Amino acid sequence: MKRPQPPSRIEDWRAQFPILRRAVYLANCSQSPQSVRVRKAVDAYLDDWAETGMNWQRWMEEVDLSKREFARLIGARPEEISMHGSASQAISTVANSFDYSGKRNRVIVTEADFPTVVVIWKACLRLGLTLDIVPVVRGEIDPASYKRFLDERTLLLCLPHVYYQNGFKQDIGPIAEMAHRKGALLFVDAYQALGTEPVDVRQMDIDILVSGNLKYLLGLPGSAYLFVKKELVPGMKPTATGWFGQENPFSFDIREFRYADDARRFDTGTPIVAAAYAAREGMRIINEIGVAGIKPWIDELSRYALGGIEERGFETSSPKDISKKGAITAVPVPSPQEAEMELKKRGIIVSARGNTVRLAHHFFVLPEDIDRALDSLEEIAAPGTKG
Ligand SMILES: Cc1ncc(COP(=O)(O)O)c(C=O)c1O
Repeated sequence: MKRPQPPSRIEDWRAQFPILRRAVYLANCSQSPQSVRVRKAVDAYLDDWAETGMNWQRWMEEVDLSKREFARLIGARPEEISMHGSASQAISTVANSFDYSGKRNRVIVTEADFPTVVVIWKACLRLGLTLDIVPVVRGEIDPASYKRFLDERTLLLCLPHVYYQNGFKQDIGPIAEMAHRKGALLFVDAYQALGTEPVDVRQMDIDILVSGNLKYLLGLPGSAYLFVKKELVPGMKPTATGWFGQENPFSFDIREFRYADDARRFDTGTPIVAAAYAAREGMRIINEIGVAGIKPWIDELSRYALGGIEERGFETSSPKDISKKGAITAVPVPSPQEAEMELKKRGIIVSARGNTVRLAHHFFVLPEDIDRALDSLEEIAAPGTKG
């Protein structure tokens, strides 16, 4: 298959990631490579702490700026964003913000959700909600299957934009319409999409959205952001809360209890400041390039990866229709963990999951990186043992 022509600025982008000088980096669905700019941002925090000592005002400013950067990424307002230590924490906050004592107490999740999502809702069953799970069939969810589960008792439909196992991508707009027609809210886990897929919460009519920053957003562990549509905030009352979720965190008056009236109410305690510095800079890189500019290259690389898989006689569990596919291309191999380790020894960083090795590209990946990964996989998984 002919290699596609990379974007003209790709070498400038690649120069931002020192590891790319010696490694092929295809583990972006797990942890993106370290960029010079994100490293500098974390250093700036450490330097400030070393030189200035306590500097809360400046650090909280950085947390606010990171919320702004997230808001910009998804077309939201900064006052609709809260910061959390992980996507799991943010999802838990949402789950314990509703009252399940009424008739509308059903939550729908999917088999394509990251397990943390399902586990959290299961832990909340004792709050009175009931849970339905939409099936994945041959790696995908038929959009029509949502119709079978949605009714006037559905409070929330919770789904991933992109399936972490195989990169299957859902068309959010029509699903939002289906949910809203039944009076249900739509909660999107965009962790495997943001940074590679254009997301606009207003255009897609998303009510609640979560993502962490380790993957395509180029950040550090310890940061995740939650969007809650402005109109929904007053009706949500998280029990996972803390002083940062209060209208006036610095009143220090224990007789008072008043949630902040914007999405700050979902904040809890002292934010993970170092992670906020990294998150802000990582998202700034993505916003500067623009996801609209990144997306065509993601699709080109998907086409190239799928072609290379077919040429070499491998199978894939990823969708072959590019319009249904995110940046992950999953290749079933007999021993994925061993393959991951073996590829690492060869300077090729991928991520094993289930019975597959996931090759997850990003804006700085070259077609020859995909060839190197597939050629090495071919050597490891001998013909006849593929899939
Ligand atoms: C789609 C998706 N959602 C949620 C998570 C879990 O995120 P966290 O560890 O920040 O809770 C992951 C982690 O890989 C993920 O891929």
